[in-house]
Amino acid sequence: MEKPRNIYIETYGCQMNVADSEVVLGIMREAGYSRTEEATKADVIFVNTCAVRENAEQRVYGRLGDFRHLKRSNPAVVLGVLGCMAERLRKDLLEEETSVDLVVGPDEYRKLPALVDAAMQGEKGIAIRLSRVENYDDIEPLREDGISAWISIMRGCDKFCTFCVVPFTRGRERSRSLDNIVREVERLAQRGFKEVTLLGQNVNSYRDADHDFADLLARCAAADRSMRVRFTTSHPQDMSIKLIETIAAHENICKYIHLPVQSGSDRILELMNRTYTADEYLRLVDRIKRTIPGVSLSTDIIAGFPTESDADHRKTIELIQAVEYDGAFTFKYSPRENTKAWNMADSVPEELKIERLNEIIDVQRAISFRLNQQLIGRTVGVLVEGESKKSDQDFCGRTDTNKMVVFPRNGYQPGAYAEIWIRRANAATLFGQHEPSTAQEG
Ligand code: SAH
Ligand code: SF4
Ligand code: F3S
Repeated sequence: MEKPRNIYIETYGCQMNVADSEVVLGIMREAGYSRTEEATKADVIFVNTCAVRENAEQRVYGRLGDFRHLKRSNPAVVLGVLGCMAERLRKDLLEEETSVDLVVGPDEYRKLPALVDAAMQGEKGIAIRLSRVENYDDIEPLREDGISAWISIMRGCDKFCTFCVVPFTRGRERSRSLDNIVREVERLAQRGFKEVTLLGQNVNSYRDADHDFADLLARCAAADRSMRVRFTTSHPQDMSIKLIETIAAHENICKYIHLPVQSGSDRILELMNRTYTADEYLRLVDRIKRTIPGVSLSTDIIAGFPTESDADHRKTIELIQAVEYDGAFTFKYSPRENTKAWNMADSVPEELKIERLNEIIDVQRAISFRLNQQLIGRTVGVLVEGESKKSDQDFCGRTDTNKMVVFPRNGYQPGAYAEIWIRRANAATLFGQHEPSTAQEG
């Protein structure tokens, strides 16, 4: 019998999952599969899932419903659930979602080809062991040619924030080898990539023998000076002075730090096990701003953690105003089984969570708007990504501070660097052109 060959994969959750899907495709390619963008043409369908909040899981259940229908017309197709939901729900997923053939956690992807083979013979499979060493260091991820690439530099998380399921779905922290990561950057540069983003739940605790994350960042930046180097996520606790100075010292390390704070209240930060106070966080931000002029900062914030009072919420608002973030990702607290916070009553009513969340969003939007207005009349360096979403007459790209810029195509090519003069701005996007308009220049 001829071996079925097409694989379709859909990815939810964080960038680590996006990078993992490329690893999965790399493993499946070695086993003779090729990628299809159409689920209806696939012999194997994988859903790489996220479990970080209830609504993330609900979306996946919705998609599994769609694939159940698809399997009715094509019962031979193998449906696999990968990633964090697989790790969290384990055999419950196989029992409750009868159309699912495979449940495979983030550290077991090497087994996928064998598990798929078995599933094609009608044998359901589950592989959910977490590993202390697996980091897929030797796997070449399958990446389409492009401008920007993700590089996973470490896996897992040891921080155990009390709200967070990640340490349970991803297991213990472990880093890839520095030399292999640098070689990967070099290969990507040779293929024409112009930007890499180094990924980990907490990149600041990266370690390979005597080398820390600052060393890795410096080596990646030196590998190709025409390549931009980004990284995410940084935990405030491990953000060293050496790291801040390394970012400042290299032109091609982007001046953008995603530094999740979660709350501005010391009482809530303590309950969350975040290991810093609001004051310590603000001092760190101050140090970053002084060392890296023009740096842009973003954050994650959770509204409505158990016992959060109006006074706690006000402190979060005050911290946002004190830092002046360029952007923020904001979430309603969502209780997750097995976490420490699961045992605390989910005491903030839904309406109040929404009200607080909306206030945070409004305050942040006003700050983003104000900071972006300050760029009007200035020229910014942009890495051209491609057509803008709204018009094929325009290109879009990002500044090294991670701001989206839209501008006329004007003969640029994706992957080129452009100097763009900013004409107007809203809270999310800068709009510019090639030359300053003389009328406004004054
Ligand atoms: N490792 C990263 C973030 C991982 S999850 C870090 O530490 O910053 C991304 C964000 O989701 C978190 O920063 C947090 O703001 C949010 N989050 C995680 N668990 C959550 C939960 N149970 N409810 C609501 N938001 C949550
Ligand atoms: Fe979750 Fe905290 Fe680890 Fe981030 S640092 S992944 S929020 S436990
Ligand atoms: Fe989600 Fe897992 Fe990432 S829970 S946020 S996909 S690490």
